[in-house]
Amino acid sequence: MNRIELGRKFARLTTNAVVARPRLWRLFRPLMRRQFDTLAPQWDEIRSPGHLDAYEAALAALSGPPRRALDVGTGTGDGALTIARRFPQADVLGVDLAETMVTKAREKVPEDQAARVRFQAADASKLPFPDESFELVAHANMIPFFDELTRVLAPGGHALFAFSGGAGTPIYVPFERLRNELRRRGFVDFAEFEAGAGTALLARKRATP
Ligand SMILES: C[S@@+](CC[C@H](N)C(=O)[O-])C[C@H]1O[C@@H](n2cnc3c(N)ncnc32)[C@H](O)[C@@H]1O
Repeated sequence: MNRIELGRKFARLTTNAVVARPRLWRLFRPLMRRQFDTLAPQWDEIRSPGHLDAYEAALAALSGPPRRALDVGTGTGDGALTIARRFPQADVLGVDLAETMVTKAREKVPEDQAARVRFQAADASKLPFPDESFELVAHANMIPFFDELTRVLAPGGHALFAFSGGAGTPIYVPFERLRNELRRRGFVDFAEFEAGAGTALLARKRATP
């Protein structure tokens, strides 16, 4: 088994363990960071064309443009840059645990987006942002931390979860599991998308009365 295959297996194992027991994350965190710091220089070559097709399909279904958007586990930034292209008025932030990913992402920001697209290192399990900071919190191929994403999402805002290879994606959470976790936290209006090899789920955090 080569290093990439081993990494995929590790990513699947970590995802299943952390979604079931989020407290286990602190054990996996250093290994995960090292894995993606190592992968960062070649990440854009490993990605298949159309890897964000389902992510884009979900963005296209948003009822209104977000003012502030967060792409969690952004890697080299393609998700954040996709949001910025689709919503020219939005301020977009991409965060990743792996500093090398963040460095690569920053190199890709076009000059005309530099004022509103930023990348920084941060852990999705403990985001350094106040409550209700974003109208969109997006994940592409990323382990969701449900309490934290709910905290930083504004009432009425959307959470997006996309998996480039559907159920075959190494970091994958079945939609039924996503729906259950989100429903418990007050999410409504679930919508599913399929595009290319990918799948995505969109949900809205209930607006407070
Ligand atoms: C499979 S890659 C996906 C990257 C990108 N979203 C894409 O689809 O190309 C997962 C990314 O999430 C990052 N990551 C994993 N756990 C994280 C966490 N708790 N907080 C922030 N980033 C995390 C990894 O460093 C890695 O860059």
